[in-house]
Amino acid sequence: MTLSRSENTRPAVGCPVAHGTADHHGYQPFRMDDPFPAYAELRREEPVMYDERIGYWVVTRWADVRAVFDDWETFSSDNAQAPVRERSAEATRIMKEGGFTAYSGLSARIPPDHTRIRALAQRALSPRRFKVLEPSIRENTRAALQRMLAAEDGAGDFLTDIAFDIPTVTILTLLGVDPAMVPTYKRWSDSRAAMTWGDLDEREQIPHAHNLVEYWAECQRLVTDAHRDGGDSLVADLVTAQDGGAEISDHEIASLCYSLLFAGHETTTTLISHAIRLLLSHPESWSALVADPSRVPGAIDEVLRYSGSIVAWRRRATKAATIGSVEVPEGANILLVMGSANRDEDVFARPAEFDISRDDARNHLSFGFGIHYCLGNMLAKLQARIVLEETIAAVPSLRLTPGADIRFAENLSFRVPTSVPVTWES
Ligand code: HEM
Repeated sequence: MTLSRSENTRPAVGCPVAHGTADHHGYQPFRMDDPFPAYAELRREEPVMYDERIGYWVVTRWADVRAVFDDWETFSSDNAQAPVRERSAEATRIMKEGGFTAYSGLSARIPPDHTRIRALAQRALSPRRFKVLEPSIRENTRAALQRMLAAEDGAGDFLTDIAFDIPTVTILTLLGVDPAMVPTYKRWSDSRAAMTWGDLDEREQIPHAHNLVEYWAECQRLVTDAHRDGGDSLVADLVTAQDGGAEISDHEIASLCYSLLFAGHETTTTLISHAIRLLLSHPESWSALVADPSRVPGAIDEVLRYSGSIVAWRRRATKAATIGSVEVPEGANILLVMGSANRDEDVFARPAEFDISRDDARNHLSFGFGIHYCLGNMLAKLQARIVLEETIAAVPSLRLTPGADIRFAENLSFRVPTSVPVTWES
């Protein structure tokens, strides 16, 4: 059933009235295995749809998604880190008693605080810091590949063997954290993703609540240590800036750590996993890169377009507004579905085709747009480039394990494969 424009105009969050179609055009907010057919139907039939199951207006066309990202005054990001499912009483108690007071580093902050903190964070996340890291990223990648290729059965999981460690070691090093903490940070990050964007019931929230308490305590400790010991890290840079008169509190620095120690690896692990998964399932693309590795950066743009790590991000209307031709009321929660925008046929030629030689891939919205545009996009692309270059050089015979059934974890925003099984010729 298709709705007329006037029927599309619906009240906000918690709306009890009937919604678009009984099956929401097949859209399942937390299902990530193959959301693309539903996205295509939404773009066509109801590009701004109120979904009462989550209390969000779901926006699926590229022009609308970009316009909302671009207008931070009308569409605030202050709900970007709010739990999608209400926090249970027990989880709230655990977090309160554990001293959990973390707030978003940047993504859910709004100007003027956002502008002030972003300028400082941007300075600390300078291209100079990234450049210095490049040789160690390459070295770590080579070592991880050698470990994987030592497997006697000629088989591995690219996600856990390579993509898991490389970006996590990088961001931990940037923040002055011992790389031996990788498994701990991955556990805390899983909890962060599940507690904020997951569909958890009350009982399921409890272990994650404990993890977030530990995670936040560690972020605060990093700031205390940087005050005491100095050092060469992004945290030390921020503390030095504070000592030099920059307006940023210890709580704000710890909150930035809380953000970066999640955002700085989780999405890059996923980007690398998607890249290998997609390139190997399109063998002609893999062969093209083996023949000419200078095409790797273009391929990464196409991976970001075709299968971004974050397929949906949130905003809230600060006043009644129009998206496309649909009116949304003040306070409306909005879900911007970049995973759909990136396949909008009005913007991309043959959008459902994975094509590393297309020239429009860079119009993707996977890093957002406007004042919150991803601060780590260069680092993410640098790491994906190094991993692909090194993998192509070390093991051009890499293949997806025949019959591998790659699944994706349930989540509102993060589309993460649970494994990327690979084989190679010994
Ligand atoms: C493939 C990898 C990545 C993807 C897909 C990604 C995606 C995003 C998205 C969608 C946003 C929100 C943009 C908006 O609201 O307009 C964002 C913001 C942000 N990202 Fe990334 N990101 C990635 C990697 C990284 C890395 C490696 C870092 C850190 C080193 C990072 C740090 C941040 C920060 C600090 C923000 C908040 C910026 C602000 O609100 O001003 N991201 N990212």
